[in-house]
Amino acid sequence: ELGPYAHFMQKEIFEQPSAVANTLEMILNAKSISPNLFGNKAEEVFSRTSNVLILACGTSYHAGLVARHWLESVAGIPCNVEIASEYRYRNPLADQATLVVGISQSGETADTLAAISYAKKLGHQYSLAICNVPESALIRQADLCFLTHAGPEIGVASTKAFTTQLATLLLLAMVLAKMRHKLSTKDERQMIMALRHLPVALQHTLQIESQVKIWAKSFAQKRHALFLGRGVHYPIAMEGALKLKEISYIHAEAYAAGELKHGPLALVDNEMPVVAIAPNDQLIGKLKSNLQEVHARGGELYVFADADSQIMQSKNLHVIRLSEHAGILSPILHTIPLQLLAYHVALVKGTDVDKPRNLAKAVTVE
Ligand code: M6R
Repeated sequence: ELGPYAHFMQKEIFEQPSAVANTLEMILNAKSISPNLFGNKAEEVFSRTSNVLILACGTSYHAGLVARHWLESVAGIPCNVEIASEYRYRNPLADQATLVVGISQSGETADTLAAISYAKKLGHQYSLAICNVPESALIRQADLCFLTHAGPEIGVASTKAFTTQLATLLLLAMVLAKMRHKLSTKDERQMIMALRHLPVALQHTLQIESQVKIWAKSFAQKRHALFLGRGVHYPIAMEGALKLKEISYIHAEAYAAGELKHGPLALVDNEMPVVAIAPNDQLIGKLKSNLQEVHARGGELYVFADADSQIMQSKNLHVIRLSEHAGILSPILHTIPLQLLAYHVALVKGTDVDKPRNLAKAVTVE
């Protein structure tokens, strides 16, 4: 089953180009997108939607946090994202025009299922499930659904489920944008072209594995790590930190880079590696000054940049460059090196990569 791979996690990381291609299959040959991608009733439901509430846990929650940026910037639609286990025990206000989106690889996560039922009970009318398992409870429960076609994910650490969720969520933002007359035909075509190119771009990005392996050796000696990102890449930093914690048992925290001065900068010394997600987006200038603050205090920086980021390697500043700047798809591509980093650190440390201690693949109880 594993083929040439040592672990399911490694296999699943390398399956991402095909997992994403399979998930996007319906649109790869199309000239335009339609709400029907999300089910027969989607057009009617989306036409009544004026805001979105995303409920999920763990990695799926991080996908929701990325989606918020896309829903706001592409579709101009307000979006809230909540950890399911928090939402279900609050007294939030309900609104009939809210589309509740549950994101889950397994479709069996107890808190996510309960949070969606609770949202319905409060008066939210419609729900959409983004899920990888067709016969799951989440699919049965939701009004609309979109199946990610990642194929079975065996490793406890979520990898291909996450990138296929992201591809799906961008599609959702595009569909809502189109229905709200926020997406010109030209932009629609360009975004479809970019999505068509995504599997190839993922394939290219996977080639940085050998460079990441070298970094993994020094990471494996550390007890803590900080992950920094800004904007849509902050949730990617959160995902990178979660992967490292989960399979290599290194304490890792993600911070929005602008928060550094508000506390975490005090932690920076040569024992604390600082990982930065630094693509050439509109926030790169701001991020660079945050990195400068770390550098000036003797911190050791590990930067995932891209071809256009113009961050130069120097003492205590290591750079791995993704081969292209991927525009709106950048968070998807920047996930790959973080998965590889966690995987290779775990290998050096000799942990049980596919079955990390104390964790289950699907959290079916609270
Ligand atoms: O099946 P789900 O997507 O609902 O699972 C949610 C989380 O339990 C899951 O993403 C978890 O955080 C992963 N093991 C992280 O890699």
